[in-house]
Amino acid sequence: MALKAVLPDLALSVPDSRRPLWTWLYEELRTAILEGRLRRGRRLPSTRQLAEHYGIARGTVVTVFEQLHAEGYLEGKVGAGTFVSQRLPDDYLTPARRARVASNPRGRQRTLSDFAQRLGSAPEGTLPPPRAFRPEPSLDDFPIDTWAQVSSRCLRRATRNLLSDSDSRGYRPLRQAVAEYLGAARGLRCEPEQVVIVSGIQHGLDLTIRLLLNAGDPVCLEDPCHPIVAAMFRILPAKLIPVIVDEQGLDVGAAERQRCRPKLIYVTPAHQYPLGRTMSVSRRLALLDWARRSGAWVFEDDYDSEYRYAGRPIPALQGFDAGRSVIFCGSFSKVLLPGLRLGYLVAPPELVDKFAAARFITDRHSSVLDQATMCEFLAGGHFGRHIRRMRELYGSRLASLRDALQTKLAGVLDLEDTEAGILTVGWLGRGLRASAVAHSAAAMNVETVPLERFAVQARLPEGLILGFAPYHARQIREGVGRLAQAVDLCRRKRA
Ligand SMILES: Cc1ncc(COP(=O)(O)O)c(C=O)c1O
Repeated sequence: MALKAVLPDLALSVPDSRRPLWTWLYEELRTAILEGRLRRGRRLPSTRQLAEHYGIARGTVVTVFEQLHAEGYLEGKVGAGTFVSQRLPDDYLTPARRARVASNPRGRQRTLSDFAQRLGSAPEGTLPPPRAFRPEPSLDDFPIDTWAQVSSRCLRRATRNLLSDSDSRGYRPLRQAVAEYLGAARGLRCEPEQVVIVSGIQHGLDLTIRLLLNAGDPVCLEDPCHPIVAAMFRILPAKLIPVIVDEQGLDVGAAERQRCRPKLIYVTPAHQYPLGRTMSVSRRLALLDWARRSGAWVFEDDYDSEYRYAGRPIPALQGFDAGRSVIFCGSFSKVLLPGLRLGYLVAPPELVDKFAAARFITDRHSSVLDQATMCEFLAGGHFGRHIRRMRELYGSRLASLRDALQTKLAGVLDLEDTEAGILTVGWLGRGLRASAVAHSAAAMNVETVPLERFAVQARLPEGLILGFAPYHARQIREGVGRLAQAVDLCRRKRA
């Protein structure tokens, strides 16, 4: 039945003699997925059915499925079959391969902008509930009742100011509260006038790119780095200068040796994403010195720096620079709710008006009611309380993950020495490939992402990204148990 339902829509070309069968099937299936002929979440026919239908060896089909699995195009559910992944790697990694031009048979051809042609596709729908070890904050532990009370109080008392259009820099009392919070918690040196409320770090970076970069401008970024960040620079397109990350953060010496004079340097000093390392003070000073000599702006991505489980946080880079060349950006997405889409950007004084104007001309401002609720949540001490509770909870979950891995996978999957954030990296030993382990783990309902997906250009050691924040100790132990089985399977296959 599945065969009848799916094979006609697949519309694969007939195998041709110019390509080996393996390449033919791989390319046809991948193209069908990217072009949407095989939709996300769609079940594929079994390997046996495909093999019979096209008259090819079943082993060939199995190998192609395994490859597409490993690359993230397919996912498996034990006993349920093989499905097109809900999130494709191309959503994150590369500019579009499927640049589309709208066809208009009777008239001249309609075209899209260069920007549109470089776009990939957006993930559809919402994510299913988290399963170990997808990196997410714990939504179950968010004090939603308190938020609802604060929000309805704001609504009941809403003045004209809250209900009408607002300053594109953001709701003034929230900017004041954010400036105070950042001064106390992150060592920032800033006035409320420098704060611009944005929808999150991604939005802050988008405005920064619009204001500071032209196509072809050199941008230095950490390698590895968040795929969306790299994609945002690529789409301009900026000239990427990826720089390796060592124990102290972005390797400024290695960057200088490239003699590249970047216009913008993007860093995550609080804890490097995704490796989790904190940039040392000497490295921060070297980075600022290099930025000054090169005439570069620095974008400081301070995502979820609130979560530190040991030691004292190092103040933000912006504080070392008195805010002259650093654009600092933080977010409430990870620390509160990803769905809230509120964050803040602290601009050097000379750029504040430009940021406000860019916000005004693009989408005016964030919802004033949400900003007012956020402001009361901060001022009323709820934010601080939530962070303190989560720090304790997440810290204990990270410890559970470390214990479970030590018990079941010591020497096979060793955790990076992270003491911050909501995810960490497990380094694979004994010649294991991260993509193969992630693939086997997915079939056992365990979600991990190979570190190589975060590489800009570096060849990285084999590692797996493991989120721990929303999972109870029992879920973590079970997840590690299944991960150990997946590792076992990979080792047996290799043997
Ligand atoms: C390192 C890093 N930067 C930026 C972002 C985007 O943040 P926001 O959701 O605030 O736009 C994320 C989100 O995961 C991230 O991990």
